[in-house]
Amino acid sequence: MLNVQPARRAELIIAVLGAGKIGEAVARSSAKSPKVSQVIVTKRNLTTLRRPLPKKILATTDNSAAAKKADVVILSVKAADAKHLLDEISNETHGKVVISFMAAISLSRLERHLPKAKIVRAMTNIAAVVGEAATAYSPGQSVTPADLETVKFVLGRLGESVELPESQLDAVTALSGSGPAYIAILIDAMVTAGLKVGLPRDVAFKLATQTLVGTAKLLLETDMGITELRDAVTTPAGTTIAGIYELEKGSFRTSVINAVEAATIAAERVAKKFDTEH
Ligand SMILES: NC(=O)c1ccc[n+]([C@@H]2O[C@H](COP(=O)([O-])OP(=O)(O)OC[C@H]3O[C@@H](n4cnc5c(N)ncnc54)[C@H](OP(=O)(O)O)[C@@H]3O)[C@@H](O)[C@H]2O)c1
Repeated sequence: MLNVQPARRAELIIAVLGAGKIGEAVARSSAKSPKVSQVIVTKRNLTTLRRPLPKKILATTDNSAAAKKADVVILSVKAADAKHLLDEISNETHGKVVISFMAAISLSRLERHLPKAKIVRAMTNIAAVVGEAATAYSPGQSVTPADLETVKFVLGRLGESVELPESQLDAVTALSGSGPAYIAILIDAMVTAGLKVGLPRDVAFKLATQTLVGTAKLLLETDMGITELRDAVTTPAGTTIAGIYELEKGSFRTSVINAVEAATIAAERVAKKFDTEH
């Protein structure tokens, strides 16, 4: 005899409050999973939402109703818009997993506003749009191992993720949160260099971006280390060492280190300023 089981509801309803660049990426990537039955996204101005929306995504301006219906609540507004949003949802997040992507807002502050929620603070980057984000996250005190599995599932849809103490999130903001901007500048410089030595712009762009992707894959997918890779393409008195010499003369590595350090200090300053002003 056939043992017919009642249809089980797909596991999760996710509310994404603040469907901007990051929020929309979270919503669209989550909606693709069979483990998610519905994604509710919010914005104050729904006309600016990118259409068409997949069937599973419902859009509303009502943060409180969205949070109430959801199992997992994602916060993705700018820090300046956070206070109002947190007030709106504080009664609807009891016992729920809340993932905050908001820069500059500490776990303790979030826990004060949403005392009964199970909060995780995360720092992702814009590559979430293509499922290649680098995300670090810090769980709050009441997050259980089962909650963490849910968090890893949501963040896993965006790319790679790693758990870190909250004290390191400013450094993460500076390295991988801002990182795509540094890489974009590097690519722009390589394209400009390609033009200088006679390559068409589109060809230079294709070669520069593919070189970046290929190098990253080599480091991630083989056991080749950074210096081994560099040495493998650097022959004595050859072309690569001529290029590397100019990079060293221009303090390329020092500039990158200084950039990340300056951005870390800026992230700490912004967080402190936000804490005293709000
Ligand atoms: N972009 C990045 O590279 C990046 C990287 C790491 C972390 N983050 C963090 O991620 C968060 C989102 O950044 P983003 O770049 O996605 O910003 P964004 O594109 O400006 O998106 C924020 C969205 O929030 C909506 N919003 C504002 N107030 C709202 C409210 N009360 N209720 C509902 N929706 C509201 C805005 O739409 P309406 O104006 O229509 O309401 C907007 O679409 C920020 O806290 C940022 O610090 C961003």
